[in-house]
This record gives sequence, C-alpha cells and structure tokens, in this order.
Amino acid sequence: MLVLGIESSCDETGAALVRDGRFVVANALASQAEVHARYGGVVPEVAARQQLAAILPVVEMALEQSGVGWDAIDAVAATFGPGLAGPLLVGLTAAKTIAFARQIPFIGVNHLEAHIYANWLQDDGAQAHAPRFPLLCLLVSGAHSELIAIRDHGDYRLLGQTRDDAAGEAFDKVARLLGLSYPGGPSIQQAAAEWPADRTLPITLPRAWMRGTHDFSFSGVKTAVAQLVRHEQENGEDLDVPAVAAAFQESVVDVLATKTVAAARMEHAAEVVLAGGVAANLALRARLARDLKRLHVPFRYPRIAWCTDNAAMIAGAAYFHLQRGERADLTLDVAPDLALPLASAD
Ligand code: KG4
Ligand code: ZN
Repeated sequence: MLVLGIESSCDETGAALVRDGRFVVANALASQAEVHARYGGVVPEVAARQQLAAILPVVEMALEQSGVGWDAIDAVAATFGPGLAGPLLVGLTAAKTIAFARQIPFIGVNHLEAHIYANWLQDDGAQAHAPRFPLLCLLVSGAHSELIAIRDHGDYRLLGQTRDDAAGEAFDKVARLLGLSYPGGPSIQQAAAEWPADRTLPITLPRAWMRGTHDFSFSGVKTAVAQLVRHEQENGEDLDVPAVAAAFQESVVDVLATKTVAAARMEHAAEVVLAGGVAANLALRARLARDLKRLHVPFRYPRIAWCTDNAAMIAGAAYFHLQRGERADLTLDVAPDLALPLASAD
C-alpha cells in the first residue's frame, strides 16, 4: 500500500510517499525556520501563510522524487493535530481535496503518534526488522516530553511527562538566553561541541529528578542558565557560551537518559525507541546507546531527518490505521490540542 502523507502542524511543510508503513519512497520538505529565526520562535500567522505558499510545490516535489504517478497512490493522510490551527488546516485541506478528487481513502494522523512511527521507517529496499513490543518510547519534541509504554500498535500507556517545559522548549529558550539562533536544539548542540570533550566543565547545572515518578521538569535548569547570564552581564564578564551550552545539554541528557533507562527496566521493555525533534540530539543518542547496551536492551532512533517534523512519519503511521480498515470522512476538522490516545487503565 502506497500512502501519500502530508505534514503541516507547525513550521515545516512536508509531503512523502511511504510503502507499507516502512519504506520511504519520497520525502519532500520545505522549512520556514529561517523566516521564524528573525523572531526567535514560530509566529502562528506567518506559519499559516508560509504553509499555504509551500503546500502544492512540496506535494509536487514528492511525486517527482518518487517517479510514480498519481494512479500509484492508494491513500492519503495528513496531520490533524496537535499543532497550530492555521498551519494544520492547510495540510489537512490539501489531503482531503486530493482524496476527494482521486476518490481514494483518507485518514487523519495524530502528530505525536507519527513521531513514534518514525522508528518503523527505513530506506526503500532496506531490510531491518520492525520494532518489537513491548516498547518503551521517549518522545521529546518542542511541545512534549513523555515516557510511553507501548504494548502493541495503538496501545499507549503514559508513564510520565514534563510538569513544565518540554525538552525541546528548554533547548529553544536557553539558546535564546545564550544569543544562539532558532531552532535552539541544533544551535546548542553545535555550541556544546566547541567545548573540548576531554576538558572538565567549569560549571554543573541542576537536574530535577522528580524522584518516585517518571515525570520531568526542565524549568529549573533554564532558570539556572538565566541567572548565570545575568550574573555575567552585571559583572561585565564574557559568557563562555560553549561551556554553558555543554553543561545545559549534559544536564538535560543526564535526566532524560537516566529516567528512560529506569523505565525500561521497570517495564521489561523489549526495545527502547526515541522520537521527536530532540531525538536528533547526538549526545542524547550516544548516552542512551551506551546505557541501554549495558542493560542489554535493544535501542533505536530514527535518522535525523525523520526525528524533526516530516511527512514520511505521517504516511508511516497512517498505514497501520488504514490496514485495520480505519478511514476518516472529509468532515474531519483540525484538533490543535490533540493528545496521544491512551489505553484505559487496567
Ligand atoms: O518534533 P519537532 O520537529 O517539532 C515538534 O513537534 O515540536 O521538534 C522540534 C524541537 C525544537 O524544540 C528543536 O529545538 C528540537 O526539537 N531539536 C533539537 C535538535 N534538533 C531539533 N534539540 C536538541 N538537539 C537537536 N539536535
Ligand atoms: Zn513534531
């Protein structure tokens, strides 16, 4: 089954063709990051206008990349939430229009679930086995930080979540404090890499362990950086940006990895998967790979282009719903506050 997926929940416009929920045949993306960098964050109204300008060229680009024609597409899917209402509406309307015009099945996809399903994706022709249940997923994006136990397709149990800022949000806010560009995650990773790996860091930033829970909190470390910046400014000193970036990244990665390993152990996870934009972070990937190897638990993460927002993950997640006979009708509306569909407590 060849699915056309469309993503437009925030500041990326994506269209992709994925076969059987796994094989990425084409993946086109237009990013607005440069436009929003001027404002230091996403401006919703600007994002919606940019989505509108990009959607048709991006869909055409995906078809061109794939080398197949419209007739080869079996179904169409689009993100319907969570995200920004205006941007979501653009991709959802495009998908519904295509479904109507081509008379093919249509389905709406939950963006958070799609991030998880990025772990099923592989290049067309590759042969890696699919993730094995029961899975533990650390989902870390610009708006979410969650530990999720997954017993089977669609069977999600929320173990813990952030009490304040999401991990990606903390990266973005700290980057702004340090005068680094938006989006903050890649900028902080780059600045942190300038600190020599074999040199001890001159500062240690706090970690909120939220003991006895699988929850997170990142507002404390953000405040600690803000105080550091203020202190240096008041004393007319130059801030050592690579040192602060490295200390911040180390604090966040330490908490995320330690709590993920503890949850994997408690849940007897067959595999651990990373998902969401922060899953692109190289320090987080390396730390979890090391710790989970010691625990003998297989660990995987999507390639970087499939961690941050993209449409391949939308087409991938859609397949598992379509295969079960699920369809949406063309009255489906956007759901900006959509959450992951959780299994009722046992
Ligand atoms: O999943 P995503 O693309 O959009 C949402 O659904 O939120 O995640 C975006 C977030 C941003 O906060 C961005 O700073 C962060 O992911 N991010 C990273 C890295 N690349 C993107 N955070 C840390 N390290 C990275 N390399
Ligand atoms: Zn996302």
